[in-house]
Amino acid sequence: MLPDSLLRRLRHARHVAVFTGAGMSAESGIPTFRDRFEGLWAKYDPMDVANPWAFRANPQFVWDWHVHLADKVRKAAPNAGHKAVARLQEAVPRVTVITQNVDNLHQEAGSRDVLELHGNLFRLKPFVDEDEVFGSGDPVVCHVCDGYARADARDPYAAREDVNAISVREGPVPRCPGCGALLRPAVVWFGEMLDPAVLGAAVDAADDCDVLLCVGSSLEVEPAASLPRRALHRGALVIEVNPAPTGLSDRAAATLVGGAAVQLPKLLRETWGIED
Ligand code: OAD
Repeated sequence: MLPDSLLRRLRHARHVAVFTGAGMSAESGIPTFRDRFEGLWAKYDPMDVANPWAFRANPQFVWDWHVHLADKVRKAAPNAGHKAVARLQEAVPRVTVITQNVDNLHQEAGSRDVLELHGNLFRLKPFVDEDEVFGSGDPVVCHVCDGYARADARDPYAAREDVNAISVREGPVPRCPGCGALLRPAVVWFGEMLDPAVLGAAVDAADDCDVLLCVGSSLEVEPAASLPRRALHRGALVIEVNPAPTGLSDRAAATLVGGAAVQLPKLLRETWGIED
């Protein structure tokens, strides 16, 4: 149970930001990245599967890896932690979820304001091979996938819905029906920039919130990891939920040690009387 002073600040909060990482979905059966044994990066080298150079060198291998992950994620359902985050909307005027996860589970649980810092595994975007496109004359912007394309590669009859209809499934790497560019999951790979609009909105939320809950992240990846610190430096109440200590644990107002699916419903119950 949190001390009364913290409970009071939580109950008076008008904007709660919930910053989440892979641990949020661990109890839904999706592996985290940095668990020493089961973590995705313990089993695969991100340099082989999660960066643009790997995709350029071997698109089919990288596509197949994401299909495998997508199949695992499709089988997963939101856990009691995701549901508690969504129910927070009943207790607090404004809730912003800032997630590093690409699994869609916050939205499936009912959270409305979700900022996906690292993209979404189930959306597609074009892979632009700059050497190929810019090396062959003036590129145009494809009206179907918004990627750069060779002017002579366009199919004027293809439409944006044709891309939306393609899903992350087993088979050859799909191509944009408009320009033929290879399509890839719209996630952020190592060496890539975050979407500036999404990052900007997340910074605004970190700057505006009076409470930030930091759930299930090792805080090892920037710029995402700087958001809880930013809120902390501004004087927001920062509470961490994690079974293991992180660089934030000593500085947070409190750490709820344990899994998100247990600790978050308990926090809602004890603070706002919301029963699961
Ligand atoms: P990590 O795998 O680095 O960290 C997961 C955190 O979740 C650890 O601190 C665990 O202690 C904690 N954890 C484990 N089980 C939990 C549970 N049941 N409830 C709550 N917490 C639990 O994952 P992230 O911090 O999300 O980026 O990793 C950040 C980024 O690194 C990912 O978004 C991904 C990866 O490379 C990209 O793919 C761009």
